[in-house]
Amino acid sequence: MREIQVEAPAKLNLTLDVTGKRTDGYHDMRMVMQSVSLCDRLTLRTEPGEGLALTTDAGFLPVDRSNLAVSAALALREATGVDWRKLTIELEKHIPVCAGTAGGSSDAAAVLRGLNDLLSLGLTRQELAKIGEKVGSDVPYCVMGGTALCTGRGEVVEPLTALPPCYLVLAKPAFPISTPQLFSELDRTKVRLRPDTEGVVDALSRGDLKGVAQRLYNVFEAVLPEGKKAQVEELKRLLLEKGALGACMSGTGPTVFGLFDSREAAQEAAERARVLTPQVFFTQPV
Ligand code: C5P
Repeated sequence: MREIQVEAPAKLNLTLDVTGKRTDGYHDMRMVMQSVSLCDRLTLRTEPGEGLALTTDAGFLPVDRSNLAVSAALALREATGVDWRKLTIELEKHIPVCAGTAGGSSDAAAVLRGLNDLLSLGLTRQELAKIGEKVGSDVPYCVMGGTALCTGRGEVVEPLTALPPCYLVLAKPAFPISTPQLFSELDRTKVRLRPDTEGVVDALSRGDLKGVAQRLYNVFEAVLPEGKKAQVEELKRLLLEKGALGACMSGTGPTVFGLFDSREAAQEAAERARVLTPQVFFTQPV
C-alpha cells in the first residue's frame, strides 16, 4: 500500500475580466489569481486490487466522475496509461462549495500533483497543467498556484510577483449562483467598468499592497441579480468599514473577500461578517 497527503488551496480573483465570447462556447478571460492557505486535504492511497473510489466528509458532493477529483484521476490515467491498481481518494472538505473559490478545481489539481508524486510519474507542473485543462478551465492555474495572470479560457497561466504578506477574510453569502447563467447575463450586458489588471500586475511587481487592494474588481459583480448584488455589496461595505484596503467578489461568486494589512482588523472584520453569514474564513496568501 502507498499513501500520500496533499493540500488543495482555495483561490481568489484579485481581478476578473471577461474580454470576449469564443466559438467553443467558452469566454476569454483576463484575471489575476491568488491561492490562499484555506485548503481541502486529500489522502490518495493505492493498494492491490482494482477500481477508483472517492470518499468525503461532505456528504452532499458527488463521488462519481462528475466530482473533479475523480475526473482528474481518470484524465491522468488516460494521458499516461498508468496502472494504479486500486485507488482511493479521501477528501476532507474545508473550502466552501460552489463559492467562486475553485474548491473543485483545486481538488482536481491536488489529485494530479499527488498521483504524480505517489506513482513517481515524473511529469512537470506544465505537463500536469495540460492534463488539467481537460478537467476544467481553472485546473491548470490550481496546478501551478501562487499569484498568476490567467488568460485564454483561464488555462494560460503566467506566474506573477507574489502578493505581499496580508490577511484575507472570505465571506460566502448563503445564496447559490449559476456560473453559465452569470456568463450569459454578461453576454447580454454592456460592460462599463473593467478591472485595471495591468495596474494590479504593476503594483504586484512593486510590492505595493495598497496599489493591489485599490484595484480589486470583478466584472461579474455588475451582473448579479439585484437581491444578490445587495448582499454582496453589504458584505463588501462591512469589510471596508472594518479596515479592509479593498474588497471584491471572487470568480462567479458569491464569496466576497476583504484584503487587510492588519491581522487584528481582519480578525475583527471576520467576527462582524459572521453576523451576516455563517461561512466566514480568515486566511492568508500562499
Ligand atoms: O471549464 P469549466 O468546466 O470550469 O467551465 C464551467 C462553465 O463555465 C462552462 O461550461 C462555461 O459555461 C463557463 N465558462 C466560460 N468561459 C470560461 C470558463 C468557463 O464560459 N473561460
